[in-house]
Amino acid sequence: MGEIPRHVAVIMDGNGRWAQKRLLPRSAGHAAGMKRMIALSEYLFRRGVEVVTLYALSQENLSRSEEELSALFALFRQYFAGNVDRLQESGIRLGVIGDVTLLPEDIRTLIESGKERTKEGRRGTLVLAIAYGARQDIVRAANSALKAGKELTEESFSALLSTGAYPPPDLLVRTGGEKRLSNFLLFESAYAELYFSDKMFPAFTDEDMARALEDYASRDRRFGRVRAEKD
Ligand code: IPE
Ligand code: IPE
Ligand code: MG
Repeated sequence: MGEIPRHVAVIMDGNGRWAQKRLLPRSAGHAAGMKRMIALSEYLFRRGVEVVTLYALSQENLSRSEEELSALFALFRQYFAGNVDRLQESGIRLGVIGDVTLLPEDIRTLIESGKERTKEGRRGTLVLAIAYGARQDIVRAANSALKAGKELTEESFSALLSTGAYPPPDLLVRTGGEKRLSNFLLFESAYAELYFSDKMFPAFTDEDMARALEDYASRDRRFGRVRAEKD
């Protein structure tokens, strides 16, 4: 077994198409995606990954129809109401990145209490990206440095990002067939290994993730250097 990435980030794309192919409403795809998300994050922690960051909702997604957004918000409510106990019991600390001021008040309250209740978790960290946008996060961080009148270094800038407390992603997986980042972790992913799957997220199994981890283990991460001689 090869090296396990410390931080895995996942762009969970394809819920809507998964549902549409089955003649179901897009909301059914999001519900199936939510179930898969819970099981998949548990799988990653079992494999020894320390930080799992999941792109659940982009800031740009907030311009989707009211119908779709209200289905998504209902699922977030359900998620926080039903899963925080489990996270707490399994020693997983919850983090949320994104502009939560764009979310309904009650969801913000659920997020705050989820973070508070799991803050002693030491086994791993589950970071949900909700109402998240990397460009927006970068501009916010830059503005806060400007206000403080500080000159930045890579390290101090990284620390100002909403992901500042986490190591950068080692492996970034996108399901759903598209090969783009869609405004996810743009600064942090500078040297992430990228893995794309054509499977829609609700159909992306633990075995599919095992293949992504296997692929990761075979990569040669050079960080701009020359490949190390193998003896
Ligand atoms: C990803 O699935 C989940 C969210 C963006 C909320 P999509 O809803 O983008 O599904 P597709 O890409 O339309 O199939
Ligand atoms: C990216 O998927 C956002 C999430 C998975 C939460 P999108 O479906 O919004 O991305 P685009 O629009 O295809 O780039
Ligand atoms: Mg999509």
